[in-house]
Parts: sequence; C-alpha cells; structure tokens
Amino acid sequence: MAAQRMSAQSRREFLKILAATPALAGSGLLPYFLPKLATAQDLPDEFVREAADALNVFAFEPVAKSKMLPVHYGYTASGTDDEETLRANREGFKKFLIRVRRLIDVRNVDTSVDVFGQRWDSPIMLAPVGGQGKYHPDAEVAAARAARVGGHNQILSTATTQTVEDVNAARGVPVWFQLYASNYWKVTEGLVKRAEDAGCPVVALTVDRASPRNMETLERYRRSDTTDCTACHTYGPPEERLRDRAMYRGIDLSGVESTANTGLTWELVDRLKSATSMRVMLKGIVTHEDARLALRHGVDGIIVSNHGGRSEASGRSTIESLPEIVEAVNGRIPVIIDGGFRRGSDIFKALALGASAICIGRPYVWGLGAFGQAGVERVLEILRTEFRRVMMEAGVTSTTQINASYIERA
Ligand SMILES: Cc1cc2nc3c(=O)[nH]c(=O)nc-3n(C[C@H](O)[C@H](O)[C@H](O)COP(=O)(O)O)c2cc1C
Repeated sequence: MAAQRMSAQSRREFLKILAATPALAGSGLLPYFLPKLATAQDLPDEFVREAADALNVFAFEPVAKSKMLPVHYGYTASGTDDEETLRANREGFKKFLIRVRRLIDVRNVDTSVDVFGQRWDSPIMLAPVGGQGKYHPDAEVAAARAARVGGHNQILSTATTQTVEDVNAARGVPVWFQLYASNYWKVTEGLVKRAEDAGCPVVALTVDRASPRNMETLERYRRSDTTDCTACHTYGPPEERLRDRAMYRGIDLSGVESTANTGLTWELVDRLKSATSMRVMLKGIVTHEDARLALRHGVDGIIVSNHGGRSEASGRSTIESLPEIVEAVNGRIPVIIDGGFRRGSDIFKALALGASAICIGRPYVWGLGAFGQAGVERVLEILRTEFRRVMMEAGVTSTTQINASYIERA
C-alpha cells in the first residue's frame, strides 16, 4: 500500500514536471505520455490552463485557490462548525435516484423553465455571493456578462462589490436583488428602494443569517495569511464600514451600531411586502412549517437554502428539505433551491422533486476566481450541457415533463 502511494506520488510529481516543461507542453506530445503514465487521479490541476480545459465544475476550485488570497479562499470554502451541513448538501443527492425511461425521441430537448411568468433558457441561476471583487476585478459585472451569454438569471447580493445599476447594465435585464435586512428599518428601506429604482423585479430576503457563525476553515486560512487587509477593507463601526459599500452609498447610516439582523421576524416580512412593489422571496426556508407561514404572509416565492452549509450545523441537506416544502406549497408559488449543486443530475433531481429552478454559489465564483468571465461562462456551459444530457438519458424532452415519476429514494 505504502509502495503504491509512493509510486502514485512520484508519478504525479513527474507529470507536474512534464506539464511545466514549456517545450513539451507546447509540443502537443503531452497527450501521448498521459495514457501510459497517468490514472485519472494522477492528472495535476495544471492541465486546466484555460476555462475550456475544465472537464467539470470541480476543476475550477484548485485553480481559483492558486490565484486567491488564502483568507479569501478560506472564507469561500468554509462551512460552519464541523461542516456537516456543507457535506450533507452534496451527500443528500445520493439519497435520491433517477428513474430513466427508454425509447423516447430526444433529438429536441427544451431546458427552459418558467418562473414568475418569465421564461429562462435554463433552470440554473446564480446565487447571491457577496464581495466578488475578491475573485476578480470585474466581479459581479463579469458574472452578469456570463449569465447573459447563457441566458441565466442572476441574484445580486446586498454585499455586492459593484452597484446594482452597473450589474443590470451588464446583464441586459434587471437582476434579482438579495436583501440582508438591517435591524434599522431606514437602512433596509434604503436598500429596497435602490433595487426597486434600478428595476429589479424580485427581492429575495435572506432569513438564515440571524446568528453569528463559527467558520473554522476560514480561521485556519486567516492565520496562514499575512496580507495587510486594511488596504481594501474598512474597519471600525458599521457606519464607517458600510459607507463605502456599493449598495449602501447614499443611505443614512447615522446611529447604526450593528450590521446584524438578529431582530428579523415575520413582522419584517409583512413590512417589506407592503413597502415594495417587487416580488418578495424568502431565501433560507428549510421546513414545511416556515413554508406554510410564508404562504400565510403573502410571500411570492421560496428559496430553499442553508447558505451553502454556512448558516447552521443542522447536518440537513437542502435537497432533503425540498420535498416537505414542495408539498406544503403545493404549486402556489415557485420553489427554488440551492446548496451543493455541482452536476446536471443534481439539477434534474431537484426539478423532479418539484423545484422550479436551482442556484449555484461556489461553482461560479471558483470559475470567476480562476478565469474571470470566461470561467463563469464555462461553469454555466458545463452545467447546461450536463443537465441537457441527463434529460436525454432520462427520456424527457422538456422540463415540464420532469416530475416525481422520475425519482425515487435510495
Ligand atoms: C462566499 C460566499 C458568500 C455568500 N454570500 C451570500 C450573500 O451575500 N447573500 C446570501 O443570501 N447568500 C450568500 N451566500 C450563500 C449563497 O447564496 C448560496 O446559498 C450558497 O452558496 C449555495 O451553496 P453552494 O455554494 O454549495 O452552491 C454566500 C455563499 C458563499 C460561499
């Protein structure tokens, strides 16, 4: 066993040297060495030199990591506590199996979905991820351009590096706005008005960040990073910290002593509903009890989410939470889901369980960190291709045909 490990290790080292040898890498000879020398696990990440090289969305993380500050990588990769919820999000998909049908003509496949009466070319949406300037200077605008190329919806974070006006211009149609409510209504109101004035049709209120969180992966990377963060980050009271943030400019922050939204209750949902003409979604619902309350409070849609395993140590995946929410909602409002979506089969399973669409978080920011807009484009292209292929494998030609008959519990 030890000998096998040694030889795998030395093969990997040897391949790295070959890949780093310009004469060989540029000669076109490398592929001739590979079948003889390498197993799939041996192939080093250096082979992903440009976005087109990536075979799947997992390929972008190591490339992004190599280009990012350790603390930024740690922040992105982190879950909470022992990261059981983070892992559960991926493992949850194994608990559902696809029932495929045969002998169906799948020459024409329509992957589009309808959400709030709008047709999207694909059920894959970009989840709100804050501060994308840490991945690439073009940040959220690059993500918007990539979303535009593939016809995807984008949800812009309150903590965006770039303004909603710039992102909307880059996307070509107004994006949806994710709202972190403040304990101070005047701040919440200011953010909502800004998004509404920019033409955003939907506001997604994030409801899963009421508590502080323990991110040990982030802490480990922070300790290994000697960067002087004051060059980019403003420290001090919230009034000073928020003033420079893209979405907070122009909002009266006087007297704001905390950025927490620990006071978030259904009362705020009601207040938000009556303060805006945008459709209101709740992002972070994971139980049928809360889904029923959402309906009672006139919410327009739900995003089943645990913040990518970053909000609580429930150990419960979003895909396992989905069925009870779909049942409670019973088709009255759209249910979107995020958390651990990395393969076309994950997307198919979510739609078969009743989701209208899905969002991805980390995969596209790894793409952004690795190759900017081209990386996000490729991540989306890979997932679109995989999803279309899974539809063909399962024998469906339209997303409207994907239903409970295509899925069973493992
Ligand atoms: C680095 C990072 C930053 C995030 N920032 C936000 C945010 O600003 N607002 C929000 O509602 N969710 C935020 N999320 C959660 C995502 O919207 C989404 O729920 C999650 O990433 C989906 O899981 P996935 O990363 O496994 O795809 C963030 C997630 C990550 C990884």
